[in-house]
Amino acid sequence: MPLTLAASRERADGENRTALVPETAKKFAALGARLRMEQSAGVSSHFLDSDYSEVDFTPGLPETYAGAEIVLRVTPPTAEEIAALPDGAILIGLLKPYDSRERLAALNAKKITAFALELLPRISRAQSMDALSSQGSCIGYQCGLIAAARCTKFFPMLTTAAGTVRPARVLVIGAGVAGLQAIATCKRLGAMVEAYDVRAAAKEQIESLGAKFVDTGVSAEGTGGYARELSAEEKTAQAEKLTKAVAAADVVIATASIPGKKAPTIITKEMVGRMKYGALIVDMAAETGGNCELTQPGEHVVANDVNIHGPLNLPSRMPTHASELYAKNIYNFLSPWIKDGALQFDWDDEIVAGTLLCKDGATVHATVKNVLGEA
Ligand code: NAI
Repeated sequence: MPLTLAASRERADGENRTALVPETAKKFAALGARLRMEQSAGVSSHFLDSDYSEVDFTPGLPETYAGAEIVLRVTPPTAEEIAALPDGAILIGLLKPYDSRERLAALNAKKITAFALELLPRISRAQSMDALSSQGSCIGYQCGLIAAARCTKFFPMLTTAAGTVRPARVLVIGAGVAGLQAIATCKRLGAMVEAYDVRAAAKEQIESLGAKFVDTGVSAEGTGGYARELSAEEKTAQAEKLTKAVAAADVVIATASIPGKKAPTIITKEMVGRMKYGALIVDMAAETGGNCELTQPGEHVVANDVNIHGPLNLPSRMPTHASELYAKNIYNFLSPWIKDGALQFDWDDEIVAGTLLCKDGATVHATVKNVLGEA
């Protein structure tokens, strides 16, 4: 029996992406895998069933998952979807590993081997599989566009018959993958961009995009290339320097986050109180609590005439490219282990071991176990 890969329609609210696109379906088929999808699973990403010539389509979730060795997903499965997974199946997706003990327990009860792509080690060899980066680029781009569309000023400098307008001033807080793409997008649109991050390496990356680095004197490198949480003293020092930059900005795009933790609160109510009337905050960290104290996830709130947007699931607003990149990340993760239609992982491989969340009925990822207090 050839290896069977399955992908169902994503059912999470507002989710338009799909984990299998026609191009990757073709590539998996060339490796000898059999492919099955739920009817219309690619439609919200604008891939029709007829675009997938190598895929068998099934009418519903149970038929899609029945007998599948590997299930590909974008979002974590719901209880109903977990119930439909074959016992012992392999699950690959953005599984929000730190979010739900109940979900992990349900996966473990079915002895699912789960790979959470959020846990993928950020090493050079894994770059082509890095879903956080591919989706982060979509997020940063969308943040830049939302900022330009909602800003009450032009982004570029314009010389018109009625006079010259100065370019809008944008401050980007957090210069990881999403933040850097937000900087690049705002620069392309002509804004004057400043940016800030606690990682020392970010300075050079910010400057290479033509933006100015805001130096607060606070540096906080954590493990795995990530930032760590700031101490109380560091937070005070950061706030003192950042207050001025926030007050001077027409737009603040906030993207700071720390894996497994609530997003750091960086823009306080008082800082919003000192912003220009009509200024804008696009808080990309809304999904994990927000970088601004006043952010409401998924909402637009106004405080002191400052508009604060907390958009959610931004990659889903550009589902075609977001799905194409995501599906390629999955293909690049999985394909090295498929030979002649059979799957053989090397469980000691750094990428396989680092991304593995659950196996043989237990949660195995050390950081996740620590965060969830199960170590
Ligand atoms: P992320 O989404 O975890 O965080 C976004 C940014 O927020 C990070 O740059 C972080 O330093 C910053 N941040 C956290 N706390 C902050 C605070 N209090 N104030 C200001 N900024 C704060 O980051 P992302 O985009 O997932 O990247 C994480 C790291 O992984 C980065 O160092 C990035 O360069 C690295 N990376 C490495 C890759 C590789 O293949 N070698 C690929 C992609 C990312």
